[in-house]
Amino acid sequence: MLAFTRSVGLVGINAFQVDVEVDLTRGLPTFTIVGLPDNAVKESRERVQAAIGNTGFSLPSKKLTINLAPAGRKKEGAAFDLPIAVGLLAASGFIPIERAARYAYLAELALDGTLRPVKGVLPMAAGLQVQGIDGFIVPSSNAGEAAIASPVPVFPADNLEQVSLFLQGLGNLKEAEETDLVQNMELNVADFSEVKGQQQAKRALEIAAAGGHNVLMIGPPGSGKTMLAARLPGILPPMSREEAVETTKVHSVAGLLPEGQALVTNRPFRAPHHTVSTPGLAGGGSNPRPGEVSLAHNGVLFLDEFPEFKRGALEVMRQPMESGMVIISRSSASVELPARFMLVAAMNPCPCGYLTHPAKSCNCTASQVQRYLGKISGPLLDRIDIHLEVLPVPRNELSEPRLSGETSNVIRERVTAAREIQRKRFQSVVGVHCNAHMTSTLTRSHCALDSSGRKLLDTAAARFGLSARGYYRTLRVARTVADLESSSSVNSSHIAEAVQYRALEKDYWV
Ligand SMILES: Nc1ncnc2c1ncn2[C@@H]1O[C@H](COP(=O)(O)OP(=O)(O)OP(=O)(O)O)[C@@H](O)[C@H]1O
Ligand SMILES: [Mg+2]
Repeated sequence: MLAFTRSVGLVGINAFQVDVEVDLTRGLPTFTIVGLPDNAVKESRERVQAAIGNTGFSLPSKKLTINLAPAGRKKEGAAFDLPIAVGLLAASGFIPIERAARYAYLAELALDGTLRPVKGVLPMAAGLQVQGIDGFIVPSSNAGEAAIASPVPVFPADNLEQVSLFLQGLGNLKEAEETDLVQNMELNVADFSEVKGQQQAKRALEIAAAGGHNVLMIGPPGSGKTMLAARLPGILPPMSREEAVETTKVHSVAGLLPEGQALVTNRPFRAPHHTVSTPGLAGGGSNPRPGEVSLAHNGVLFLDEFPEFKRGALEVMRQPMESGMVIISRSSASVELPARFMLVAAMNPCPCGYLTHPAKSCNCTASQVQRYLGKISGPLLDRIDIHLEVLPVPRNELSEPRLSGETSNVIRERVTAAREIQRKRFQSVVGVHCNAHMTSTLTRSHCALDSSGRKLLDTAAARFGLSARGYYRTLRVARTVADLESSSSVNSSHIAEAVQYRALEKDYWV
């Protein structure tokens, strides 16, 4: 007897349909799985047999062959347990073969037949093919995620018994409803009002958050760099549904979605330690796992103590910072993962840290300083739109109660308004959500300058030695400055502000 069911496999975050063929013939009782299964798939043999037995069915002692097609693609993980079990029940005559074939299935099976949640359900649901499929059967705790992206109705189930009763037409499975995109802004982050003074730094971070620009903060120890960065999540604009789905795909594949949460609704804020490995940052492994650059997709990647990161790890960020994608090469194929993040980096100006301190003296030699700064390569620096010097706030100002500034909520409102303008601007452009994502063509068309603006930018570009990339990045920052003022055109005052954020490079990196 031959039966067949459907399932989905993943390469990175891209899904492909898997047809599970189950053949039952007379012969020595064996149980074979073919079609490039990894170890977890091979072990499903034991789980499936136990689960079927404990659900009350007894499989005939025959030769069982399971083929996962297409045979040329690697199948990973335990999610094929359920489609294999259903295929076996159909081939053994317990459930109608035609009905079993009309659904797609994903779930790991516990030995007692309970359906266990699996990773990557959202991208798998998004990749389902509609043709010939009436529904998608998944474990209950994955149902929310599946319903967001599935083109066919999603039926959550708790155990193999429910699934078999449903397929036999003896029981019902309730269709999952799509959860609303809840903005759970219960963010437990500290507030910007706690930062005294630092008006320029706050302004720069507001611009960065509004347009998604990269920022580098340089300053002596204790000047408040980490403190400022830690408050960024509180002023980031909400994610659009499209962005939330993109980000959730990555988190789902990495198995980082909290139990019961279908969508990542807050922008990610990833702050890996400087000892992070290159694969940890960029992603990798034989079964490619998203790295920090991908987990920060549509959010912030905060690299504190920037020069302490391994040079190799920093350099791999060059490509995603430009293209918004990271390519992980494996022996079999290369996998592309989204990695469009806003880089926020913080560093001291020299090894001792006090080079720019107003009161303390620095005891580093000029060559030590150069070597330290040299850890940040030119190409990397060129990809950072906003360079910001953070100097300590004078002690008397720290205790001044009147100096506590705006709250994060107030800043966030302005940021959100500016991002809304950008959302409308890029409505018809796929994959571009904010000014920082503009291509050079888009930059030219949305940042047209008058003659005084152009002159100012040209002069600054010559003076600071801006590359073509730096030139366009400055224009994009100016666009965001204009958006924060709801100005439709970019004028010379916007350019003037944007340009000053590139002035530091020349002071430090000579
Ligand atoms: N502007 C400020 N307002 C209020 N508190 C401040 C301010 N600047 C610094 N502080 C206090 O100083 C502490 C140290 O700041 P922070 O850790 O951000 O320094 P840093 O610039 O990251 O230093 P390092 O280079 O050593 O990492 C903060 O936790 C905060 O308590
Ligand atoms: Mg710090």
